[in-house]
This record gives sequence, structure tokens and C-alpha cells, in this order.
Amino acid sequence: MSVDYSSMKDATRAVHAGLVSEPVTGAVIPPIFQTSTYEQKSPGKHSGFDYSRGTNPTRDAYEKALAGIEKAKFGISYSSGLAAIQAVIQTLEPQSEVIVSDDVYGGTGRLFRKLFAKYGITFHFVDMNDIENVKTKLNDKTKLIWIETPTNPLLKVADIKKISTVSKAHSSDIIVVVDNTFCSPIYQKPLELGADISAHSTTKYISGHSDVIGGALMMDRDDLHEKLKFVQFAAGSVPSPFECFLLHRSIRTLHLRMERHHVNVLKVYKFLKNHKKTKQLYFPGDPDHPGHKAYMSQTSGFSGMISVKLDMTFDELSNFLSHLKVFKLAESLGGVESLVNHPEQMTHASVPEDHRKLLGIDYSLLRFSVGVEDGDDLVDDLSQAIDKA
Ligand SMILES: Cc1ncc(COP(=O)(O)O)c(C=O)c1O
Repeated sequence: MSVDYSSMKDATRAVHAGLVSEPVTGAVIPPIFQTSTYEQKSPGKHSGFDYSRGTNPTRDAYEKALAGIEKAKFGISYSSGLAAIQAVIQTLEPQSEVIVSDDVYGGTGRLFRKLFAKYGITFHFVDMNDIENVKTKLNDKTKLIWIETPTNPLLKVADIKKISTVSKAHSSDIIVVVDNTFCSPIYQKPLELGADISAHSTTKYISGHSDVIGGALMMDRDDLHEKLKFVQFAAGSVPSPFECFLLHRSIRTLHLRMERHHVNVLKVYKFLKNHKKTKQLYFPGDPDHPGHKAYMSQTSGFSGMISVKLDMTFDELSNFLSHLKVFKLAESLGGVESLVNHPEQMTHASVPEDHRKLLGIDYSLLRFSVGVEDGDDLVDDLSQAIDKA
């Protein structure tokens, strides 16, 4: 039986959205449709499925679950977060202008600067913490505002409601997208705040187990859904049925994982806030963070993301990293295991050096993805490694 969960709470939607028991056996978890094609009764006469780049039952169920957790009408899945971002840019015409958060994930900046700028699309990178910077760049050619909030790796915050209102007042043609990867749909719902699309690297919190690469776009507007579904089909960056199965399975525990990330990151924040080796802390829950007020007004919790500059030489920092026992030095974030990343040398090495300097991404910056282990063990781990640095 198909039940409408749309008016129910996050936890119920996370567990049930998109799942319908298999009709022949009653299996509560439907089988994975590991098929590329479908037999047709006569040419063009089929059951709604003809080729898996276009539609696949396992992907359809997962996309319904994506829509469900974001409280959106539609979810569309892609083979990576960058493929999802790329799909949005592919809907633009040459000569369009895009306003982008200045501290977006390094790969997003690289995609815009290196791959799309040459097609005549102009990208303006601005600090969206101050809405005046967005207003200054708005003009008749502006077609898209790409907000990442909080940003990767400095956790800058943009006020989604204010930016959406200002851009729509300028022109209803402007599409507002929020990269919602850092908060996950559990803690931030950009569509309710006026954005047109919520984008995710599902590789991160939605997967939660560091075993899949994926991306997703969620939206309410039929016109955007139609355009982006076409790009998904025509450009072909689709996830495999097995990846869809894994991601759908992950969604069912997203709310539980986010609750533990929230508890643990607050423990790590308190430890770092009071530590004498902390030079600068980047955490939107900190009342001293410039985006604190906006963050608290538009989200309902914290994911495991926190960045810090430690008062250490590079050698001391390397020593600190090598003494960590629970935190692993690795790219990516959002998994159940705690990770630490060195943005300058790792995830943000592709950001042009002068831009990195301008933002303050230097050798002393570390980005932590606090997992769901025991929070006290995580604090102990950081403490012993700092002492040995
Ligand atoms: C905020 C954000 N958006 C997008 C991406 C790109 O996602 P993917 O690596 O799945 O292509 C990342 C990757 O780290 C990210 O952190």
C-alpha cells in the first residue's frame, strides 16, 4: 500500500519515504533492479521502464526517499555531487552570470573556473555573509545564485531567506541553489527558506558510511524538475542501482546519525574553544561566529563539521595528526567515522593560491568531520595528540 508520509515528521519520512513492499512476495525491502534494459510487449509499449539511464525502479524509490527527507516534491540523483552541480550549470545559456559563495568546496570552484567559464558563463565569487556583496553583483545577466552554507572549509554562513528574497525581487528568473551538504536535510531545509533547489554531495551525510560517491538535487518546481530530469537523462551521470540501494538504506538512519553528530561536535567545540593551542575556531554554533545568528535562525542542529587553526608550526601540526588514534587523516566528511582534513594540502589544493590566501586557508587550518563514536573518546583523542605534538 502506498502511504503519503509528506505531512509526517523527519524521522518517519526518513524511515519510510520511497519504500513500498514488493507486491509478489511482500518483501519489505524490494530487490535491487540490477538491469540496464526492460523487455517491451511491442515497440514502444512497456511498463514505464525502457532503459536504466532514463528510469530504474531502485533509483525511482531512492529519489522518492530523497524528496521525502528534504520535504520536497522531487528528488533527482546523480553519480557524484559534482555531477549534480554540473547538471544545474548545464541548464544555463552562454553569457549567463552566476553569483557564488567565495568559500565553496574546492571542486565546485574548480568546476566553475576551469570547465564552465570557457563556455562564456561568468562566476562572481563573493562573501555571502554580507548580503550587500550579493546585491552589488546582481544585474540583468544574473541567472543563478549558488549558495553554500555553511561553506567548506571555513563554515561561513549565508542567510538563505534574505538572499532568496533579494534575488527574486531583482528577477523571478534567477534560480537560487543551496549546497546543503554540510547540514543535511535533517538540519536545514533550503526550499522552506525560499531557495529553488537544494543540492547535496550524497557521498557525505546522506550516505554516512564513506562507501559511495553520489549527488542529488531536490526541488518543488515542476519546470526545474523537467529541465534537470532531461539533463540527467541526456548527459547520463546516473548512479548505479546498487549505489541507489545503499543510499536509500542510509537515508533510513540519517536522523539518528545526525543527532549523534550534533552531540559529539558540541563536545569537540567546547574542548577546542577552551584550549590554549586554538588560534581561531570556525563553528557556527559559537556565539562569536559572524554567521551565528543566521545559522541559528535557519537550521535545527549541527552536523559534525568544525574547523580550527592551531597555534603550531607545520611540523608540530603534522606530529599532532600522526598521533591521532580515532580521527583518520582523509578527504571527505559526513561518515560515521571521525576524519580530519588539511584543506590547504588536500581538499582545497585546487583553489588558486591568491584566493586561498584571501580566504585565510593556510597551513594551520584543519577541518574535522566529527563522527558518531563516543564523544568523550574523540575529545580524549584530540587532547592526547595535541599534548604530543
Ligand atoms: C560541500 C560540497 N559540495 C559538493 C561536493 C562534491 O561532491 P562529490 O565529491 O560527491 O562529487 C563536496 C565534496 O567534498 C562538498 O564538500
